[in-house]
Amino acid sequence: MVSKKREHFGGRVAVILAMAGSAIGLGNIWRFPYMVGEHGGAVFIIIYVLSTLLISLPVFLAEVMIGRRSHTNARDAFARLSRQHPFWKTAGYLTILIPMLISSYYSVIGGWSLEYLFKSCGFAFSGMAPEAASTLFGSFVSSTWTPVLMHLLFFAATVGIVAGGVRSGIEKFSKIILPVLFVLIVLILIYSVSLPGAGAGVRYLMHPDWSQLTPRTFAYAMGQSFFSLSLGMGAIITYGSYVNKKENILVTSTGTAVFDLLFAILAGFAIMPAVFAAGIEPGACPGLIFQSIPYVFAKMGATLPVLSGIVSIVFFLAVIVAAMTSSISLVEVGVSFLMERARLSRVKACLLIFALCGGVGVLCSLSFGPLAGVKIAGMAIFDLLDWVCSNILLLVMALLAVAFVGWILPRRVVHDEFTSHQLYPFNDRIFPLVYFLLKWVAPIAVVIIFFTNFIL
Ligand code: TRP
Repeated sequence: MVSKKREHFGGRVAVILAMAGSAIGLGNIWRFPYMVGEHGGAVFIIIYVLSTLLISLPVFLAEVMIGRRSHTNARDAFARLSRQHPFWKTAGYLTILIPMLISSYYSVIGGWSLEYLFKSCGFAFSGMAPEAASTLFGSFVSSTWTPVLMHLLFFAATVGIVAGGVRSGIEKFSKIILPVLFVLIVLILIYSVSLPGAGAGVRYLMHPDWSQLTPRTFAYAMGQSFFSLSLGMGAIITYGSYVNKKENILVTSTGTAVFDLLFAILAGFAIMPAVFAAGIEPGACPGLIFQSIPYVFAKMGATLPVLSGIVSIVFFLAVIVAAMTSSISLVEVGVSFLMERARLSRVKACLLIFALCGGVGVLCSLSFGPLAGVKIAGMAIFDLLDWVCSNILLLVMALLAVAFVGWILPRRVVHDEFTSHQLYPFNDRIFPLVYFLLKWVAPIAVVIIFFTNFIL
């Protein structure tokens, strides 16, 4: 049997760390701050927190249950649990397609981080005028070769780690780097808040301007929340299949969600004050952190050049590793599928993914430069892919996952999974509430929010 061969994570800490490793990544550090900037600051944060607790957490639980119950890859999980129902067999393919699409443009941003790491290694920012450090990004991103090369380098490293196997590859990586990144973000936050002009940024994050609230805010906030928790695309299903039968999934899921939320909000507070201090437009573009963080390092470098140099190196290194653990989880979905379905060896599956997704990523990278003029539905290739994935495909897939658990799986099975076969009395007590969220609240909210995408 294929399922017997699947590896298991060590213990609870290992599960949370691996899931947090997948969840915490560029979504928190890069994507969240610019989404906040594009969608009105504090208002976005409020909707984001609400949708994480009321919608994403149930979806997260649903995905872990699907994975753990079926004990297989994301695509086959639906097929197996629905006893090969044709609809769910087909739907399962989406869980393979989405991570492949995301991994392709995700590694473009990973590549930008790599470039900024190299720049930091030459202490580039600490000796620069702060304005120059923040405008550097524009010329880098619009050039042709360097961003493409960096993207391919980042992606090759990711795929290389996946080729090394689940345990050795993923667990070790996430253990060391998350605490380091956490501490650095807090340090940068403290410094960034102390910059002249930073107060406006703090106000922007703390005082909701309700006139900024539009139906679209909900769609973007929920999409961001799914993206950040690695939901709606089989990553958590795949991780769930490695989770021990006795594990308390309420604890691991809530733990992961809280960590993830904290990271995103801290990153927002580290970056936005600097954005205002530097006079950067908060809704600028996906480059927001690559403009604001170098500004911070240049400012710091004016008085403390060595410290600034070292912090910038460790910061970008940590961002890259955090990005890589997430990217690994994206790639792992496709690889796991190709291995179990197409019976490819791990290495061959990895090579195939590298060729396919790496190629799409090249187009995304070029869409900031030579292909900037190529617009589809008014969006450049990168933006279009990100929008289609986060605001459409993720929502569809998250809906399918949560509806599957709420409506297709028998209530008894869901109860067994949620309580790990009656092992946890607290889970037993709150089950009716969780089941209500799974069956009614989350699916209906996702459907309504999905359609708001098209109303405006
Ligand atoms: N959650 C990751 C981040 O915040 C990105 C990610 C990894 C992801 N795996 C995923 C997003 C699966 C969606 C689905 O950076």
